[in-house]
Amino acid sequence: MNFNQRFESTVKDMKKGIIFSMAVACILGVQTAVAQRVVISTEKTSIVLDAPTGGDLNFAYYGEKISDKDADLLYDAGQAWQQAYPVYGLWCQREVALSVTHSDGNMTLQMKVQGVEKNGDVTRIKLKDTHYPFYIDVCYKTYPGKDVIETWAEYEHKEKGVVKLNQFASAYLPIRYGQVWISHLYGSWANEGKVEEEPLRHGMMEIKNKDGVRNSHTDHAEVMFSLDGKPQENTGRVIGAALCYSGNYKLRIDTDDSNYHHFFAGINEDNSQYNLKSGERFVTPALALTYSHEGLSGASRHFHRWARSHKIMHGTELRPILLNSWEGVYFDINEEGMDQMMKDISGMGGELFVMDDGWFGVKYQRNNDSYALGDWTVDTKKLPHGIQGLIDTAKKYGIKFGIWIEPEMTNSKSELYEKHPEYIIEATNREPVKGRGGTQLVLDLSNPKVQDLVFHIVDTLLTKYPELYYIKWDANAPVMNHGSQYLTKDRQSHLYIEYHRGFEKVCQRIRAKYPKVIIQACASGGGRANYGVLPYFDEFWVSDDTDALQRIYMQWGTSYFFPSVAMASHISAAPNHQTFRTIPLKFRIDVAMSGRLGMEIQPKNMTDKEKALCKQAISEYKQIRPIVQQGDIYRLLSPYEKLGCASMMYVKPDKSEAVFYWWKTETFVNQQLPRIPMAGLDPHKNYRVKELHSIDQKPLAFEGKVFSGAFLMANGLEMPVEHDLPWHERIDYSSRVLYLVAE
Ligand code: GLA
Repeated sequence: MNFNQRFESTVKDMKKGIIFSMAVACILGVQTAVAQRVVISTEKTSIVLDAPTGGDLNFAYYGEKISDKDADLLYDAGQAWQQAYPVYGLWCQREVALSVTHSDGNMTLQMKVQGVEKNGDVTRIKLKDTHYPFYIDVCYKTYPGKDVIETWAEYEHKEKGVVKLNQFASAYLPIRYGQVWISHLYGSWANEGKVEEEPLRHGMMEIKNKDGVRNSHTDHAEVMFSLDGKPQENTGRVIGAALCYSGNYKLRIDTDDSNYHHFFAGINEDNSQYNLKSGERFVTPALALTYSHEGLSGASRHFHRWARSHKIMHGTELRPILLNSWEGVYFDINEEGMDQMMKDISGMGGELFVMDDGWFGVKYQRNNDSYALGDWTVDTKKLPHGIQGLIDTAKKYGIKFGIWIEPEMTNSKSELYEKHPEYIIEATNREPVKGRGGTQLVLDLSNPKVQDLVFHIVDTLLTKYPELYYIKWDANAPVMNHGSQYLTKDRQSHLYIEYHRGFEKVCQRIRAKYPKVIIQACASGGGRANYGVLPYFDEFWVSDDTDALQRIYMQWGTSYFFPSVAMASHISAAPNHQTFRTIPLKFRIDVAMSGRLGMEIQPKNMTDKEKALCKQAISEYKQIRPIVQQGDIYRLLSPYEKLGCASMMYVKPDKSEAVFYWWKTETFVNQQLPRIPMAGLDPHKNYRVKELHSIDQKPLAFEGKVFSGAFLMANGLEMPVEHDLPWHERIDYSSRVLYLVAE
């Protein structure tokens, strides 16, 4: 049968299925309906499925919201047949979402619709195998007022033995073949979130992670598909997809001889075959989908709005401006030093001080990264008045206090490891491979006792010091050894999955007891930027690289999927500690101000003039904070275009205020830079323009002037290429932050 014959016969089957489904009513409990066409819509988007009872579950459409009438005519419009959740065994040649080995060795599935349940915002399509007592629920969830649809699968069986899950993707999405480009984030430690975009070509593209603990250093489990050729920021149809998972993942895009790109996303099954017991339920993580015809930025805005309201802890609240001690003092923690840093950040208008690594360890002192993880007792040689002493000092300076921990880890040189060697991840009959500092080991979170331990680390700190306002939760090692001392022999392949189930259980316990504390997900920098952890964490550390120029590129990519309220972005020293580049303070401030502003610097080494500039910027950031942290993003000119500058804006949803950022990304004499039209404003409103913390000798020509939104969006404003400074103070970089207020 060729493709057309297959298509026609399937359409016939489908029509039969509809008639069949109209004749047979099956009872599945609350609000069960006879299943046929299922339209799942948000305000601006729709997914359409065909779910004829007793027939195949077919995927008909994803995109711009469509009417029921158009949904009924999809097949007449020429829509091809696709299984909504392809399974292995019959029609073997295709890529699938699920493949299993039944208890009797049979490797096939043939799933038919039993019915559709709608419960609130969740639509559940219930499938059953034609022969085996094997069941799949394909689920879709919408959120009121948000243009994101989550989809995932749940499996269960009542076979006599174990069913092996060989492949178990969360979801499948067919995307019509055409001028489809993918944008995805690749990178490395200190180089996270780099954008790569390319047309989808024939063959299989795979994006994956196998770290075991941190899943977003190298590649990201989020992608954008631009349907109309090379990705544009503010025009063109885009589908965005984000896998909400903290562990190993795999995204596959198979472009075959059909008219579709076949997109699969889910847990990475490599070395993770899952033995599903009779009666046990396996729930895959959700894949969040969005669609926009307003380009990449449009899809980002959908993700950001959904995430702030539903997927990031305290996502709709504003974040304090902090100083973190790491790049200022590294492991050299002592009371006097902490006091001075707190005084300095308070003097600059900061609101929180975070003491990073180096404060703990009794038998083994944490003077470098080889010792004491797991021994979360304060080192009183460094801090004679303990944590409470530091909290009191913070109070004296009118700021809050936060602390660094790395609770999933230990060192072989630690009291914890000496007492509980059975808590670490290691393979039987093997010496464990160790990580950071030559001694770091990962605790086995599949073990409930380890889950208790990790919970108690946080619980003890927060009960002993209820005024602790912020926790920086780090994770600086991958799973290096495949072996659990807790899991039984037949469940060793569950390690990666059980680790993240254990991790999530701990997070849930912490949040049940401590809903207010701010927690940052740090994982050797940006290793935990994902929607698996963010429901429990307030923010993530974008990267250990704080170089402002490189951050423009990293934050640009990261903002495709994550809102600035969650993107920790700090002003650091010059020369920078990672790139050794010397960037003027003004530019460092202007980049940090486009995210969740903080400082990562030794204020003692700053001049009074530098402190004064930071003080001014911090005070102005407080003014624009609601727009930056809660506004709509409009990326204007990408640094990846290499046109010499980059620019973006945040606009308040009611379009009454906006912040415009412009950064020069390279410097040449007499260079020519493009003039950048703005976006997202109200064309009918008039905006007064004010430059924030200007360092020029004279105000810019447009300072204080009022322009229509229409003019600004059609023309933009001409940015002077250089800062107007006295000769001996001139600098190579230039940047501008403009605050626009509607009159
Ligand atoms: C990791 C983090 C840093 C810092 C150090 C402390 O590398 O990413 O920000 O906290 O650990 O050891």
